[in-house]
Amino acid sequence: MIRSKIAGLGFYVPEKVVSNDDLAKVMDTSDEWIRERTGIKERRYAERFVDTTTTMAVAAARIAMARANVSNNDIDFIIFATLSPDYYFPGCGVLAQRELGITEIGALDIRNQCSGFIYALSVADQFIKTGMYKNILLMASETHSYGLDFSTRGRNVSVIFGDGAGAVVLQPAVDGTGILSTHLHSDGSEAETLSMINPGFHAGKFVPGKKPATPQQPYGGMFITKELIDKDDIYPYMDGPAVFKKAIVKFPEVIMEALMANDCRPAEISLLIAHQANLRISQMVQQKLKLRDDQVYNNIQKYGNTTAASVPIALCEAWESGRIKNNDLICLAAFGSGFTWGSALLRW
Ligand code: ACO
Repeated sequence: MIRSKIAGLGFYVPEKVVSNDDLAKVMDTSDEWIRERTGIKERRYAERFVDTTTTMAVAAARIAMARANVSNNDIDFIIFATLSPDYYFPGCGVLAQRELGITEIGALDIRNQCSGFIYALSVADQFIKTGMYKNILLMASETHSYGLDFSTRGRNVSVIFGDGAGAVVLQPAVDGTGILSTHLHSDGSEAETLSMINPGFHAGKFVPGKKPATPQQPYGGMFITKELIDKDDIYPYMDGPAVFKKAIVKFPEVIMEALMANDCRPAEISLLIAHQANLRISQMVQQKLKLRDDQVYNNIQKYGNTTAASVPIALCEAWESGRIKNNDLICLAAFGSGFTWGSALLRW
């Protein structure tokens, strides 16, 4: 069976650095609270009216494509993961395709939040293994800062997230390296625990308290109402402690699943690159798996939680800084809204 491998990778983060003290100027929070609970010192915010989820992804993609030594004509499929798309529809896949100037190949959008990149990697891996495609461009990007609640009411969510993008080019491996396996899971029973349900077409079906006021007209008027805007009910919601409890169970579980599927042990991991949800979550995962500091890569301190983009940003940064060498055993893992979670084990 053909394996797939990451032939090129790139990341892009906007220049604007926003410190915890900067946030404390617009909401009731503090550098101390944010550092202690999340490990985050600063994050990047997109330049308003200039950067979008699509443009940042394209910047990362151009780097990944150059490093893979491929041009537009070589790319035969696009996969794009985000929870903060430029448009409700169409998805960022086709927008990135247009920006890159690539025509008429398939473009698929993935909506799996923090696990989006792992899901995208797994899908791409299957296409390469079957021989259907030879060069797949995967992008993961988020522009959280355009849509968060920066009042004190939204502080438990807003301080955590940052903007940025990562991209990889996946190709068939010819040398025994590449993706050894991927493992995907989800559990929708707590879907709203970490969610942004408005605007949406749900009509209050699953959360009766969120039923929109019956509009005057007989049809339409359900997706976004003036009442929702007036009530400021258009922001992400997170039950932080519930997410924390689930994440510290599912991360180690799915990492062990990947290791066991390949007859490996935690001690054999060269580098674990877990979704940068919260430094405290990463530290608990490290403790549970008894990993040394040099086996784990964390950069949430600089970028905050960039959701779908966090794994490829961390992977690329680790690689650029020489933390990943040929033949290393790399474990990628993510957990997030849905809940969805997954892992991938790679021989670099
Ligand atoms: N600044 C100051 N105070 C705050 C802030 C803030 N930014 N946010 C919340 N608080 C206050 C709350 O209002 C609350 O005050 P109260 O006790 O007077 O009501 C108090 O701090 C404690 O609130 P909790 O939400 O219980 O805080 P907790 O200690 O659980 O920490 C946190 C919140 C950091 C979100 C934590 O629950 C957590 O790490 N959860 C995991 C969720 C996570 O990492 N999500 C990342 C995104 S999801 C993902 O990527 C997997």
